[in-house]
Amino acid sequence: MCTLISKYNVAGPRYTSYPTVPYWDQESFSLKAWKETLRKSFHESNAKEGISLYIHLPFCESICTFCGCNKRITKNHDVEMPYLKSVIKEFIMYYELFDEKPKIKQLHLGGGTPTFFSSENLRLLLSGIFTIALKTKNCELSFEGHPNNTTKEHLTTLAKQGFNRVCYGVQDYNATVQKAINRVQPYENVLRATKEARTEGYDSVGHDIIYGLPFQTQNDVINTINKTITLRPDRIAFYSYAHVPWMKGNGQRGFKDGDLPTADQKSLQYQIGKKMLLKAGYVEIGMDHFTLKTDSLSIAQQNGSIHRNFMGYNSSKTQVMIGLGVSAISDSWYSFSQNIKSLEAYQSLVNDNILPVFKGHILTQEDLIIRKHILNLMCAFETSWVDNASFFPELPDVLLKLKELENDGLIEITSKKLTVTEKGRPFVRNVCLPFDMRLQRNKPKTQLFSMTI
Ligand SMILES: C[S@@+](CC[C@H](N)C(=O)[O-])C[C@H]1O[C@@H](n2cnc3c(N)ncnc32)[C@H](O)[C@@H]1O
Ligand code: SF4
Repeated sequence: MCTLISKYNVAGPRYTSYPTVPYWDQESFSLKAWKETLRKSFHESNAKEGISLYIHLPFCESICTFCGCNKRITKNHDVEMPYLKSVIKEFIMYYELFDEKPKIKQLHLGGGTPTFFSSENLRLLLSGIFTIALKTKNCELSFEGHPNNTTKEHLTTLAKQGFNRVCYGVQDYNATVQKAINRVQPYENVLRATKEARTEGYDSVGHDIIYGLPFQTQNDVINTINKTITLRPDRIAFYSYAHVPWMKGNGQRGFKDGDLPTADQKSLQYQIGKKMLLKAGYVEIGMDHFTLKTDSLSIAQQNGSIHRNFMGYNSSKTQVMIGLGVSAISDSWYSFSQNIKSLEAYQSLVNDNILPVFKGHILTQEDLIIRKHILNLMCAFETSWVDNASFFPELPDVLLKLKELENDGLIEITSKKLTVTEKGRPFVRNVCLPFDMRLQRNKPKTQLFSMTI
């Protein structure tokens, strides 16, 4: 395994989208084209399947030095209300593009820290959203909760609004690791927040844990997983630490590169963690997720409805996902757009009645075909090209480039399909790389992505 790791540990995207954000073609994108493609997609799909809504709530009271999310650190809670007003106003601007009410199939509050906001303000936000949108019958509403500040009141208020899924950031329980990442978070806080979510009737409680953090040892991963499985969360995201210190404003500091585990140590941490999770009755879902067999993601993996987008893995797909808030990304299937990353600019554009989109991409026919292959690989670890619609002229070259991975037993290729083997699962990002024609045609000159292992 160690030789495979040194061979395949290269910089590569996590493929939450194809094309990946650095490869979006700005030239062919305009706000007008974004609105047109979104309107078309909305009318094709809203009545049939509904839409997804992602709301980015960027504030956190203190910075965790490993964090790669777009956030704003402040202890001043006066920022809450003006921000929420902008979010509702942005949603109204989208609503005015359509001639029927959006039907929400999935709604996710992400961050930053949604539980930075008071439960009353979150209630006001949601009532603002649901005065102009409907919910589908089996609507999934979820949020990211920080175990240190998710109160019983947050859980009750959101449950009353129909929230049925919460995901807590845990990361690691070791005191040295927690100090290095500036996130002191005792087990008791996670225990309380998990128990309270269960009492409030949440169907799915998730924990995020990370391997490859500064000073983290194999024993720390074992201890963290042991504590995690005692609480039996329905979903466990077991993320590989993405070290991207070159990304502006993401706060990855407070430790040196030399304080991080090596690629081999990191891979061993993943392998031992995975073994423990499987032994504890969890099933592996796509890349870096584990769930109990009863969880809707596991059921979706079995019936083939699992989907992946900027919100992560979902139990069903909607063609349209609207992202509201600073830096949020939207997806109409035919196009992507991203909101401006500066909080002040976001609020000022929305106040002036301008959609705060600052970049995007309109997918070509080739992008749409490749997007599907990459989604298949990330969600189901296999893809096929039996029908003409899945074929693109460079496919034979892509398969040739993948020969090496086949020889190493990481994938199997037949005349009709490619399957990632059990041994190849940790390398799924490497399997996607040759499909990524935009990257293959224009290799990055500086490092844009985290390492694949
Ligand atoms: C927005 S945070 C979760 C909510 C809340 N802010 C908290 O920290 O509890 C989303 C999750 O992304 C993951 N994450 C953030 N930065 C990461 C990185 N550099 N590498 C891997 N995972 C990361 C963490 O597991 C974190 O819990
Ligand atoms: S991990 Fe969560 S709380 Fe910490 S800085 Fe990132 S978003 Fe904020």
